[in-house]
Formats: sequence, structure tokens, C-alpha cells
Amino acid sequence: MAEQVEVSIPASARGCRLRCVACGKEFERAEQDFRCAACGELLEAFYPLRETGNPARAGELRATWLERRKSFHRLDQSGVWRFRELLPGMLDWNNVITLREGNTPIFELPRCAKSAGVRRLTGKHQGMNPTGSFKDTGMTAAISIAVEEKFRWVACASTGNTSASMAAYAAQAGLRSLVLIPEGKISWGKLSQALDYGALTCQLRTDFDGCLQLLREVIRRLPVYLLNSVNPYRLEGQKTAAFELLEQLDWAIPDHIIVPGGNLGNSSAIGKALLELRELGLISRLPKVSIIQAAGANPLVRTLRENGGKSLVTMHPDTMATAIRIGNPASWRKALRVLEATEGTVEEVSEAEIALAKAEIGSDGVGCEPASAVTLAGLKKLVAREFVAPEESVVLILTGHVLKDPEYTLKFHRGDLFKDTSYDSDPKMLDGHRSEPLILDADADAIVRALERAEKAGVR
Ligand code: F0G
Repeated sequence: MAEQVEVSIPASARGCRLRCVACGKEFERAEQDFRCAACGELLEAFYPLRETGNPARAGELRATWLERRKSFHRLDQSGVWRFRELLPGMLDWNNVITLREGNTPIFELPRCAKSAGVRRLTGKHQGMNPTGSFKDTGMTAAISIAVEEKFRWVACASTGNTSASMAAYAAQAGLRSLVLIPEGKISWGKLSQALDYGALTCQLRTDFDGCLQLLREVIRRLPVYLLNSVNPYRLEGQKTAAFELLEQLDWAIPDHIIVPGGNLGNSSAIGKALLELRELGLISRLPKVSIIQAAGANPLVRTLRENGGKSLVTMHPDTMATAIRIGNPASWRKALRVLEATEGTVEEVSEAEIALAKAEIGSDGVGCEPASAVTLAGLKKLVAREFVAPEESVVLILTGHVLKDPEYTLKFHRGDLFKDTSYDSDPKMLDGHRSEPLILDADADAIVRALERAEKAGVR
């Protein structure tokens, strides 16, 4: 394998540079672990030559992006590359690997709005991406760079969605992929995706944080391209969720955007996108970006609560929302900056609150995986805290598809989600939200009786 890597391409050839988020040192090329060679913190991409604050240019960009929606060109059909003026460039645009990611819908959530106590609520469903999660928007960007840099292997540690996405994009690109996942702590749906797309899949007896630690060791020893969200190019692709959201709202700025927090890459990317849009004059003010974590995996909440954000408080995470079962989030500094810049906040939610919120999102006909449902559960608390007012506009970022974790959904509706667990749950709170499957005789009368009983019981 040793001879496979060529000299890496300087960032300026892509119209950007890399900068450390802690010490500010700038780089043309990243190390293989994408950490600052001086202080070890994460890097971010920035665009020194970009024209800012020119209203004519802002109008041109809006028109160009909209015009591309009519095009059949592969880059224009991607909801990521449609915004390519604000992304790292390619040396050859034919090297872009796309599965036509992005272009995800915004759904109305009327029952959820009522339950949260806001007049209107919408969710941008990033689970409607090709592999069923928001990861695809970042993966197209970073995999395309791996192709240009002539890597043969790509790798990630994952709670499931990153691995599914990476495996798919690697397969499309003709690259090999290595997946490190915590054994027994990812949903079957996600694991099956990695297998189907042909990844070398290793289930390790540790958690996500342990997998990432081991992967850092592997990449020091082998020329493998790292595709976790410490890779700054992934976050560049993930920015497009915010570009697309604003475009879909006809550039009307929502008051609040609510995002789940795990490794904290997504909240960082969305915040970065909003700051760039403001700098370019495409929006005049910032929505407040708030981050919600599961109470059993709440290192960001603790970091703010216990030391005002000075240093990361790590923990052993524990939540059934396995996608966000992370105790040592890599992008915590970036996320803190987003909270500060947008005047957002953090909140934590219990396992029962997550389960209830997931069922409520399902009852609006939308559905999502457990980690995405923390957004609604968190919103309820933000309304109670009067951080969100009932008349304000709120967008939830729903990060993963309902079919990602059917086991969780089935257990919930059968009433045994909390069986044999030590999680605190209030079964009464979940009453009326379950729709248990019925097993009936093959008999029309039995079906009619079931329907009549359901009608009498009222709407769920
Ligand atoms: N929602 C879902 C469905 C996720 O899969 C993840 C992260 C998050 C939210 C949190 O996003 O890490 O950017 O703060 N999943 C990663 C993975 C860690 O490996 O799939 P984040």
C-alpha cells in the first residue's frame, strides 16, 4: 500500500486555505489526521479570495443556484454541488462523486407544533438523502477530494450513519472502505448498509470514541484517507443544508434552527454556513442555532454548565439514540463558536422525552430516527424556558430516516422499549402514543371490530 499516496494537493488549488480553530495557524496542506501540526486542534477551510459584502454578487449567486434546479447536469442535480461557489473547488470537476445528495424537503409538523407550544413548526428532513442521513452531503465533498488525491482506501469510525454513507460513496467511486463501529451499539439498518456497499466492517468492543482513537492510530500506519467529520472538507459539504434551507424559505430567515449534537460536526457546519451567508450579504441576520443532546451523552451541555466552555468535559456516553452516543466530541470548539455567534443555546433530554418526540414526529407522517427526535424534545424545553417564543419560526434539522432504526420503533410501539434497561421512564407520559400491531384471525369481522374499537378510542 505504501506507494499509493501522491503528494497531496494544496488547498489553494481548491480556492481555500486551512486554519486551526484554536491557534489560528494557517496551512496549505493537512496532515493525515486533519489536526493542527502546531497545537493538535481541528482545522477549518476558509476562502481568502472570496468577494464579500457585494449585494450584486449576492443576487447573482441566488439566481445561479435557482437556475441550476432546471438543469440535468450531474453537478447541478446535487443539492451540494449546486452551491459549488461556496465549496472547495475540484481540479477536475469530473472527479466529483455524487449520488444526487441534498435537495431534501421541508415538512410541516402540525401535531408536533401543538405539542411543543409553537404556532408553526417545520422540519428539514436530511434523512431523505440517498443513504438516509445528512452524512451524504459531507461525504460527496470529502470523497471527491480523496479521489483527486489518489487514495485507494478511505476510513471512518462511526455510530452507523457515517459508515453507511462512506461505504456507499466509496463504492460509487471505486475505492475501498474501512469501517470501525462499536459492537452492539449501532442499529442493524446502518450496519447492513455498510455490508451491502462492500465496506470492510470491523465491530470493535469499545464505544465510538474508542473507535475514533484506534482509527487515528491506523491512519498513522497506513495511507488511508480519514472521513470522520474532523475532515474539514466534510463539513464544507454539510454547510449546504443551511444554504438549501434558506433558499427553500425564499431567504426569509427563521428565528431558530435546532440541531442534534453528537460529534458536533453538523451543528458546526450549519453555523459556519450561516456566518458565510451573512458575510456574503445573502442574509442580514443569523437564526439562533441551538444544540440538543441526550442526557446520557451530554458532554457539550456539561462543558458549558461546569466550566463555561473553557475545556471539554468528556464522559462515558449512554443512550438508546445510538447515533449520538458520543462522550468526547471532536468538534466541540467549533460548536461552541456557533452557539456564541448565533446566540443559540444547549439543552439535554431524557430517554422517555426522546421516545415520545420520535412518536410525535411519526404521527405527523414524517418520522425520523431517535437521534433526530431530540430536536423536538429539546424544543419543548426551550419553549418552557421561554428561549423560544410561540410565535417565532423554528426549523428542526431531522438528521436520519425513520427506517434507520426500526427495532427502536417496534419496541416503542410494542411497549417494551424500556424493558430490561435502567433508563428512567414514565410510562404514563407515553400512553396514547403507541400503536401496537394487532394479531387477528383472517376474518373480515375481526378487522371491522378492530376498526370500530379504534374509532371509539379516538385519534392517536
Ligand atoms: N443525527 C444522526 C442521525 C447522526 O447519525 C449523528 C451522528 C448526529 C445526529 C449527530 O451529528 O455528530 O455531527 O453532531 N452520527 C455520526 C456517525 C457520529 O458516525 O454516523 P454530529
